Amino acid sequence: MSTDPSACTPEAESTDTSPADVAAASGAIPAPGALPGRALVLVVEDDAAMRRMIGEVLEEIDAEVICVGAQIALDLLEQREAAVVVTDLRMPQVDGLEILQFARQHHASTQVILLTGFATVETAVEALKGGACDYLRKPFEPDDLRRVVDRALAFNRLMRENIRLREASGTQAVADGLVGKSPATEQVRRLIRACAGYDCCVLLTGESGTGKEVAARQIHGLSQRREKRFVALNCAAIAETVIESELFGHQRGAFTGADRAKPGLFETAHGGTLFLDEINNASPGFQAKLLRVLQDGTFYRMGDTEPRHADVRLIAASNAPLPALVQAGSFRADLYYRLKIVEIVMPPLRERRTDIPLLASAFLARHAERLRKPVKGFTTAALAALVQHGWPGNARELENAIQSMIVLTETDMLDVDVLPIGLSVSDASAPRRALGRIEPQSLDEIEAYFIAKTLHETQGSRAATAEILGIDKSTLWRKIKRYGLE
Ligand SMILES: Nc1ncnc2c1ncn2[C@@H]1O[C@H](COP(=O)(O)OP(=O)(O)OP(=O)(O)O)[C@@H](O)[C@H]1O
Ligand SMILES: [Mg+2]
Repeated sequence: MSTDPSACTPEAESTDTSPADVAAASGAIPAPGALPGRALVLVVEDDAAMRRMIGEVLEEIDAEVICVGAQIALDLLEQREAAVVVTDLRMPQVDGLEILQFARQHHASTQVILLTGFATVETAVEALKGGACDYLRKPFEPDDLRRVVDRALAFNRLMRENIRLREASGTQAVADGLVGKSPATEQVRRLIRACAGYDCCVLLTGESGTGKEVAARQIHGLSQRREKRFVALNCAAIAETVIESELFGHQRGAFTGADRAKPGLFETAHGGTLFLDEINNASPGFQAKLLRVLQDGTFYRMGDTEPRHADVRLIAASNAPLPALVQAGSFRADLYYRLKIVEIVMPPLRERRTDIPLLASAFLARHAERLRKPVKGFTTAALAALVQHGWPGNARELENAIQSMIVLTETDMLDVDVLPIGLSVSDASAPRRALGRIEPQSLDEIEAYFIAKTLHETQGSRAATAEILGIDKSTLWRKIKRYGLE
């Protein structure tokens, strides 16, 4: 146990310094990103005497214990995961229930214990409904506090173990391949998770470059088939004469030049997933052959009389609306209905602009390394221009733009001078003015940019900004302060 005496002092809580600064001064809190060896118990109490007393009571606990005031607690919880938070319910600036909500939002496994001097049935119910694992009425016996903290630590260990097991099974890792946090992308993610485990056909529709193949690979990666192959076929790029042999394979001598037997894609993908890209461009012959195998699940290699069975999950992608093609007679209605058991519509990038900074950063990381250019990030103005562009070619166009910017830049920050022709920079100066220059190319910059932009759009209304960004007002207030956006 290492109670941090300096962090318990009123001086520490009354400053605006970040927890990392406090840490640097006291040596008690590891820098963000450092992996603490022991579970952290965070005591949040604005009353210095009470805080010290709790620190002493918890001295024997098998955990690192840090005692702070409410303001510092919120910053600290953003940077470090606490196993257990023991917080006073009523504090002058930040409510204990707010700490509870904040802690639970940031780390699902954090256990929160509320201390209250006014334990009524109502507050207890409210606390437990809000996700608190326990509450204690003040004054309490030291043994009681140790007991509830011990129990919360044990529960936290269990939850973390569960999360670790789930992640080890690959579920989480694969789901993270789709970059983006906009509500539209979250919805796509939900649909992917919902259908991945079932062996049904999935039809992915959306404009070119919206990430249909990324989604298809994720469905495969989250399915029980993930150990087997993901085979992709572009239906537009397959000549009429070779469709049969490509899909179903051939025996030796099946046709002139067939000097060896060859399995088709259905056999290659056996046990796995076959991804049929640009299904809207499949020829009538292709459609007929596909329908046949979908109907009976069996096929023949060319030149063979032995029926073969394909255990293949089909995912198809279309960058044109299939109902219109069905209407026009160029796509078979029966095939369409077989393919669209589940349909996932990939939204265009212009309808989920909040994904743009995240995608841009992901593409920057991907290509700066490949092109061996030490580019660190974007200037705020360049990022603003990227966010405002219409992106008719969606994520692929954005990816190409980032690659070209990396190639052209002569500095380690991608700025407006290397933006592709046609990208507007006219409004980009507004957020830049609002922000000044802040640490570039970090999540912080992206966050600061959006806060500045939303404040600008709401004529400075903090209530409206908090609502639009989906954060509470106290969080917004702290972030405005931190990024100097007042
Ligand atoms: N949400 C995303 N997260 C990460 N990368 C993405 C995302 N969306 C698209 N990409 C990237 O953008 C590029 C285009 O994506 P993808 O090939 O999946 O698009 P598509 O919808 O299949 O396009 P098309 O219809 O033209 O085939 C790829 O390099 C892909 O990695
Ligand atoms: Mg594609």
